[in-house]
Parts: sequence; structure tokens; C-alpha cells
Amino acid sequence: MQLLDGKAISSQIKAEIKEEVEQWIAGGGKKPHLAAILVGQDGASETYVASKIRSCEEIGFTSTLLRFEPDITEAALLEAVQSLNNDPDVDGFIVQLPLPKHITENTVMEAVDPAKDVDGFHPVNVGKMCKGLPSYISATPFGILEMLIRAKIETNGKHCVVIGRSQIVGLPMSILMQRNEYPGNCTVTITHSKTQNLKEICQTADILIVALGRPEFVTADYVKEGAVVIDVGISRVADDTKKSGFSIRGDVNFNDVAPKTSYITPVPGGVGLMTICGLLTNTFKAARKEIY
Ligand code: GUN
Repeated sequence: MQLLDGKAISSQIKAEIKEEVEQWIAGGGKKPHLAAILVGQDGASETYVASKIRSCEEIGFTSTLLRFEPDITEAALLEAVQSLNNDPDVDGFIVQLPLPKHITENTVMEAVDPAKDVDGFHPVNVGKMCKGLPSYISATPFGILEMLIRAKIETNGKHCVVIGRSQIVGLPMSILMQRNEYPGNCTVTITHSKTQNLKEICQTADILIVALGRPEFVTADYVKEGAVVIDVGISRVADDTKKSGFSIRGDVNFNDVAPKTSYITPVPGGVGLMTICGLLTNTFKAARKEIY
């Protein structure tokens, strides 16, 4: 079993981007600028956004955080989105999800200028991705692809099973893994809460991507000997032994599953750390006007 070490790979990618940014600026380019909108005080969202902002500083980007109260109206949030769309200094921005229930996330996503949509959530970017056109690949799928690439994991002709059909992970991942390029060319099965015989389907996976959001759901009996297992889950479970009062669990029971695998991602220290690299890569693409 080999560990797909998100900490090591993400540090490497950040160092690479940092160097490229230095060259870009030395050549007269503008410092890439990422903005983030955060609504409310959700603990996990606070942590993610803080980490995104810190990473920008580390690699030489400008960053701006716009915070709003949880009772902000949808109209006011859409105005904030418009002002970032119109700000020539902002290359790309994200609206951290989830949003409060009274706001329709799709409405907000669709208000973002596709050229600045570095999360890759706008239908125009999703459509381009489906058609294999240059687009912003969203953060988690980017992180998973990059792990497969850097570990040189063979994907051609393999059976890839994705558990979970979310707009952010499961759906784009299933599309990317069947593309006619590396990493891809898989036969893909996408599964979800209504799937029958889930365990039997998973047992046929060469590559198992788990993104359903249920702590330690996948046990050894779901996994074929020698499979590659990618765990996208990040759940907070109560833990009195921790100062924070919680510990982080993946969707895979790591100790049970790991001995059976050829490669596996740990949680924490796996896919989660890679996602920021996707966001930074997209922001740099936006600053260089590579796609739009
Ligand atoms: N919430 C969970 N993951 C993400 C992400 O990749 N982007 C944004 N904007 N919100 C999220």
C-alpha cells in the first residue's frame, strides 16, 4: 500500500506556482488577486476560507475576504458578486458554500462572471468541462486528478466507481474520469443513495472515489484487492480528547481498508489539502487570461 500524501504533493504544487508567479511578475505581469465571499460563521467554512487566504499569501497572490452576516438578502449578495465581477483588479473569486437556506446557491453561482469563476461552478464552465474545452476545473476534482498524475497511476481502461453525485465532486469527477485523455479513459460507474448492490459494484472498482459525506462508510468488504481508493470525505465527529471537541473523519475506514489497496488517500492529509491547489491554479489562469 502506498499513501497518496496530500501534504507533500500540495506543498510541491504550491512551490511550483510560487515560482511561476515570481517569473510572471518579473516579466511585468500583475499579481494574481483572489477574492472570497463568506456568509455567516459556519466553523468549517471559516477554516476553509482562512486556509485559502493563507495560501494566497504564501505563494504571492493578493487576497481579499468579504464577510457578510447570515441574514444578508439574496439581492445584496448578488450586488456583492456584481461588484467583484466589475472590479478590474480581482482576477477570480469564490462564494464559499453552503449559503444560508434563504439564498438559492444556483442563482448566486450563475451571477458570477464565468471568466472569474475560479471554483468552476458556473454552468458555462461545467459545460465546457463536459465538452472537453479549456475551463476552470473545480477544486476537488482538480486535486484528485493531480494526485493520480503525480503518482503516475494508470487509469486507461480501468473501472472507476464514484460514490456520490454531488455537483461539486461526484458528478464532475465521473465526467473527468471518462475523458479521452490521461487521467481518464476509465469505464465509469456513478453511484448514489438509490443505487442497489452498492457494495458489489464497489468490489469491481479499480479506482474507487468516495464522496458521500458519511464518516467511515466504506469498509474493507467494499474494496477489491489492489484498488486505488480516494477518500473525499471530511466530517467532523465529536471527540472529547481533542481541544477543538471534534476530530476529522473521512468516508473510508482507513485502518480497515488501507492494507487491501495499492494506493489510498489519508484523511486528514489527503484530498482536502489538494483542493486549494486547484483554486490557486485557476486564479493564476484567470490572471493570465488563459481561458477567457
Ligand atoms: N464548500 C465546500 N467546498 C467548496 C468549494 O470547493 N468551493 C466553495 N466555494 N465552497 C465550498
